[in-house]
Amino acid sequence: MKVITAIKDMRTEILKQKGLGKTIGFVPTMGFLHEGHLSLISQARQENDIVVLSIFVNPLQFGPNEDFSTYPRDFNRDRSLAEAEKVDYIFYPSVEEMYPYVPSVKVVVQERTDVLCGKSRPGHFDGVATVLTKLFTIIMPTRAYFGKKDAQQVAVVDGLISDFNFPIELIAVDIIREADGLAKSSRNVNLIPEERQQATVLYRSLQSAKNTIDHGEQNPANLICMISEMINRESNGQIDYVEIFSYPQLKPLENLNGTIIIAIAVKFSKVRLIDNLIIQID
Ligand code: PAJ
Repeated sequence: MKVITAIKDMRTEILKQKGLGKTIGFVPTMGFLHEGHLSLISQARQENDIVVLSIFVNPLQFGPNEDFSTYPRDFNRDRSLAEAEKVDYIFYPSVEEMYPYVPSVKVVVQERTDVLCGKSRPGHFDGVATVLTKLFTIIMPTRAYFGKKDAQQVAVVDGLISDFNFPIELIAVDIIREADGLAKSSRNVNLIPEERQQATVLYRSLQSAKNTIDHGEQNPANLICMISEMINRESNGQIDYVEIFSYPQLKPLENLNGTIIIAIAVKFSKVRLIDNLIIQID
């Protein structure tokens, strides 16, 4: 496994591998790897000749009052985990390498961002789309792997790849959870113990909404109300949003039908958690 920090070196390696006719699976991350990331890497490992993992905490996608400085980082641990997963290259650039001067162009996402995290984190998806445009251009992958944990990000990347004609196949991978249902996240370490226990209410409220749908509930507003009450009752977290939309279009629904997403975001003292359930309703 090689660790590469310079864009030009990464490009040289990629061109060499492409010249040999190798397929390239790319897993973009911000590091502090957990089993969610590892499942993306393991699927990429199965489906491609070469696996590239990027680790870059992208300042462009953090708002001024967000957790860029406290975002957890541990490169040595990440390197061992990546090595064990048989990653071929870690692309690990510095902020100066990726953004050596004030950029003259940024990517602005115009659809699928007026709701959910796009609404509560203005500019976030522009930052994600901008860094991914750079990473896709540097790594030129055959396939790129993203987790459904960030379902809105998957919807945005789907638009980015089609709009800009990147010759890349988008692969969306299921959410990996802790034994008690909490979606794995690098940010979970920033929960205090009491909050860590309460945080299980996110997944439990989604399960209970699914159960209510299975018993015939058709009305999104009733479900939103039920989920919100449950979160408020069982945690000190502050609800950022509880929403139900069509997926991947992210448009409001009057009745539940087709593929829908139930998405929630809850703020705890130092960390904001998200979770979702995508279900097909006939
Ligand atoms: P990061 O939060 O590090 O996540 C990297 C990838 O891991 C994302 O595709 C995310 O959806 C996936 N992931 C995280 N937790 C997961 C879980 N519990 N189960 C399955 N997949 C999970 O998302 C980003 O980084 C950044 O926005 C990035 C795409 C790297 C651009 O900077």
